[in-house]
Amino acid sequence: GADVLGRDLVVQGWVRTLRLQSSINDGSCLSNMQCVLNSEAEGYDQVCLLFLSFLFMVLYLESGLVTTGASVWVQGVLVKSQGSKQKVELKVNKIVLIGKSDPSFPIQKKRVSREFLRTKAHLRPRTNTFGAVARVRNALAYATHKFFQENGFVWISSPIITASDCEGAGEQFCVTTLIPSSQDTTDSPVDVIPKKNDRLIDWSQDFFGKPAFLTVSGQLNAETYATALSDVYTFGPTFRAENSNTSRHLAEFWMIEPELAFADLNDDMACASAYLQFVIKYILDNCKEDMEFFDTWISKGIVARLSDVADKDVVQITYTEAIDLLSGANKKFEFPVKWGCDLQSEHERYITEEAYNGCPVIIRDYPKACYLLLSSFEHGIRKRSRQDSDIKAFYMRQNDDGKTVAAMDMLVPGIGELIGGSQREERLEYLEARLDELKLHKDAYWWYLDLRRYGSGGKLQALQLFQFFVVVENGLPTSPCFLDAVPHAGFGLGFERLVQFATGMDNIRDVIPFPRTPGSAEF
Ligand code: 4AD
Ligand code: MG
Repeated sequence: GADVLGRDLVVQGWVRTLRLQSSINDGSCLSNMQCVLNSEAEGYDQVCLLFLSFLFMVLYLESGLVTTGASVWVQGVLVKSQGSKQKVELKVNKIVLIGKSDPSFPIQKKRVSREFLRTKAHLRPRTNTFGAVARVRNALAYATHKFFQENGFVWISSPIITASDCEGAGEQFCVTTLIPSSQDTTDSPVDVIPKKNDRLIDWSQDFFGKPAFLTVSGQLNAETYATALSDVYTFGPTFRAENSNTSRHLAEFWMIEPELAFADLNDDMACASAYLQFVIKYILDNCKEDMEFFDTWISKGIVARLSDVADKDVVQITYTEAIDLLSGANKKFEFPVKWGCDLQSEHERYITEEAYNGCPVIIRDYPKACYLLLSSFEHGIRKRSRQDSDIKAFYMRQNDDGKTVAAMDMLVPGIGELIGGSQREERLEYLEARLDELKLHKDAYWWYLDLRRYGSGGKLQALQLFQFFVVVENGLPTSPCFLDAVPHAGFGLGFERLVQFATGMDNIRDVIPFPRTPGSAEF
């Protein structure tokens, strides 16, 4: 506005572009500050020489003047800009070069591909796109804490090193202790790099004598606090040793995992929907400039689509209804649909993108185990084989039909599964039977089972006297007297998938500062 004109200002930042004037940016927002120098400005010589340098290359190389990427301190007066791109610009009184930038600076003005930028993960935050992603990611993290804190949840730090496998899928990274042998303890840690055949290193596959892994999920730990403090949430890094090279899988990703006590699957779904709507509304209200940037350059119409998400209730359907919908679809799927089959991404896409017109959809009550139908041709004859593909986790509460579990996934267009959650099995005997069925070691989960042993307490036992008053609703007793622990439910949301959904960035490697994918951990 006009009130800022004439103000004395000091700005510091990195040179983005250089013409007869230069634009600098300090990373706080998208807009660059255009700085216009005239010959009276102190420090003008530096830039003046630069102009010469276009003519005399030798001078350019030797002078080490202000070039793209250099950091500068600039003092001047804000004036109305002559150009059309910005309202104001800085008429420079004094410029100081803080840090020179080598002319080899790889991110020059021309547009560079995101693949190329992945090889320059240390410099890509200096581009518009990665700056905007970082700020929106930050706002989503802030909004996440704001949502849960304002709704009475307690944040719990779940451990990164753990002995248990929450998902029971065996997709864990093993933690290995590298201890230099006693003969040579003088080795600096830098020398202790994992070389399998190095005889100085005790290459033991464990954590000081005990097996340990990087966590795949903080859920089981969150449950211990939810059954003590009521509603809690975790927000931290989790790891999956799955060899997936897709645009939505990382080996290291951040997960938000709320756990609600005295809650069932309906409460869980309501919480997931309210959370998503809150954080989307938050960035639309608070990251306007960055969101407009995504709308213009990354995904046309994203602001309008997200506004719809923030306003409309999330659709909820059962797995059985989803199968009916897919069977009735006027579309040929590569994987034929039948009750019990695993939903492939083509099915998920159809549901969110076509059947529900680009809206998030929650699918609930999945079969305990889904299979994948594989088809192949042998001697010209089509053969179909079944392969178990998605066996639902041991902790999910079994529904009364004996076939399905109280689990839900939230699907969003373009990404697929954004959230996975469930009501937890609070009945000790069901849980033990399920662990046996899935051939998981009960001993490893002793503390998790304890939560079901110590869940009822004296007060609830007293309630059991009045068992005949118990009302059953949706197959669940509304009074807790039949239960071993309090009914509780929760979900996990992949934070990077949320950042993708909120920015329209199509590759998950571009929404986390330093992506970890199979074989890539350079930066
Ligand atoms: O569906 P998942 O495996 O569920 C759990 O881990 C539960 N313990 C969560 C809970 O109930 N507390 O993972 C949850 C979410 C997925 O929906 C997905 O968004 C994300 O985590 N996710 C990944 N994101 C990036 N890269 C991967 N390899 C991911 N695996 C899962
Ligand atoms: Mg899942």
